[in-house]
Amino acid sequence: MDARKTTFSAPGKIILFGEHAVVYGHPAIVTAIDLRTKCRVSKSLQNEVQLSISSDYLFNEPSTGLKKNYIVSKEQNGFITQDSKNEQPLNPAYYFVTKKILDLATSKKYPHIHINSEIPPGIGLGSSAASAVATLASLSTFMELEFSMKEINELAFEAEEIIHGKPSGVDNTISTYGGIQLYKEKKFSKLSIPNFSSYVVIVNSGIPRNTKTYVEKVAKSLEKDTSKYQNILEEIGNLTLIAKSSLIEGNIQKLGKLMTQNHLLLEKLGVSHPILTELTNSLLQLGSVGSKLTGAGGGGCVIGLFENYQKANRAVEEMKSRGFQAFISSLAERGVQVEQ
Ligand code: PMV
Repeated sequence: MDARKTTFSAPGKIILFGEHAVVYGHPAIVTAIDLRTKCRVSKSLQNEVQLSISSDYLFNEPSTGLKKNYIVSKEQNGFITQDSKNEQPLNPAYYFVTKKILDLATSKKYPHIHINSEIPPGIGLGSSAASAVATLASLSTFMELEFSMKEINELAFEAEEIIHGKPSGVDNTISTYGGIQLYKEKKFSKLSIPNFSSYVVIVNSGIPRNTKTYVEKVAKSLEKDTSKYQNILEEIGNLTLIAKSSLIEGNIQKLGKLMTQNHLLLEKLGVSHPILTELTNSLLQLGSVGSKLTGAGGGGCVIGLFENYQKANRAVEEMKSRGFQAFISSLAERGVQVEQ
């Protein structure tokens, strides 16, 4: 890491295969996408940690240029308070990241953290992990802590634990290292896919959801009927390994079929939603070779794999005409990186 630079960005992600099963030690295939969160750190002009968050979300129509300011209050047990203009509470991950860094810092130099994100929050595209990763990288250079990538990844995982309870670590890992990865139990291998010429359409169902709730829902189902739900998770794990081979071979048709099968298994797991299934069916009708929900489920996004750009583009326009937010995502090779 270049110790002189204090502006970093980190990507969001989509899970192509294996969500939920990955929490129980099965593999997942996940890819970074070209939506990023940027963090710049400058010296705070007050003797306090300051945080300014602005968003340039992909789906802001027109861009609202939202801006929120926070200060780390030592009086209130270190909680970050809202300033008088703010109505929304702060994502606890920021609190964790800021406090952790200050605890680790030897020379206390108060940072002013400026975040700008293109990743819409709360729809399963990894916005919280990207924020944590970019912030950790920027603060690390500003405080001259010089964290390695591994340390950034591990600290971002701790931030994810605060938000999600029992995360697999997939979001922070992909945001740190980028690319397409096979991820299993905190270990990952980047997949080299020279023949992957296809397009992923992401559609936001607009249904709010919460990762923690759905991870807990699966945990409860497992408690109630262990063998049934263990079998489903195992099937998802097996299917993910087959998908890895199809991806490497560039067999897009097969990959698509496996995606649709993965969606059916997620339905059986009880984490889908009628609208998500309707959207996956619509994408299939619009020429997608495979479609599934992505992320924790219950709402959020679905993805469709297309072999042909025109078809993907038509599907996006059709989804938009039905009132859904949709776009074609490019896969991002770069994880956390310094910005000019
Ligand atoms: O919806 P997201 O982006 O938070 O993804 C959650 C993925 C899960 O497998 C359900 C949980 C996890 O930590 O891997």
